[in-house]
Amino acid sequence: MTHALLRHRASLLLGAMLTFPVAFAACGRQQTAPAAAEEDPTRAPTSVATSHAPATACAPLEQLAAMDTRRPVPLQPMMAWHQKQNMMEHLVAIQRITDALAREDWEGVAAASALIESSPQMQQMCHHMGAGADGFTELALDFHRRADAIGVAARAQDGTAVLRATSSALEACTSCHATYRQDVVDPATWEARTGSAHAPAMTHGDAR
Ligand code: HEC
Repeated sequence: MTHALLRHRASLLLGAMLTFPVAFAACGRQQTAPAAAEEDPTRAPTSVATSHAPATACAPLEQLAAMDTRRPVPLQPMMAWHQKQNMMEHLVAIQRITDALAREDWEGVAAASALIESSPQMQQMCHHMGAGADGFTELALDFHRRADAIGVAARAQDGTAVLRATSSALEACTSCHATYRQDVVDPATWEARTGSAHAPAMTHGDAR
């Protein structure tokens, strides 16, 4: 992004906040640079055209939200990123389980499944992530319980049982994905929707 565009973006946002605070806040999603900023760098922040800037920036996200009718899970940006990292790790665990299973490396299966099995930290995380979405935490905990059976089957060196437990865990992945989507919100909205005054940045600031 050029310096001029950055500066203009800042003035657009300032103008929007000064003149249309409600429209600005109503986006409820991360802001992107309004396309209008590139078209007319001389436009005054308080002009009529600028008043549409928030709507322009939010329109694609609102179109997406209208199509994606899954239940929203309110998350602050750092929580949303942390959740995505967890998810990518979950998929890596599944890949490692299947790889180790193909080689009948039972210790490898158990080590990989330990990445997604129940643990006190995992449970705490699931409660935190699901604080603003009814049923989310329950699905998450059920997923980890299903994953527990993978390690049990690996220790019994029972390949069919490993596959059955992996399939059952994957079923929990897919049913959660069919039901919920991320809804990235600011701290005030998150607090209002979860009834929590806790600042997630404090627990997620050191997320990898
Ligand atoms: C309790 C709910 C839940 C469970 C269980 C769950 N996920 Fe997710 N997953 C989500 C949500 C919510 C998203 C974010 C969807 C969105 O972008 O709005 C997501 C996103 C993802 C993504 C995309 C990450 C990205 O970079 O955007 C991957 C990959 C993923 N999940 C893998 C898995 C795998 C593999 C499992 C099971 C082994 C799993 N998930 C189990 C809720 C769940």
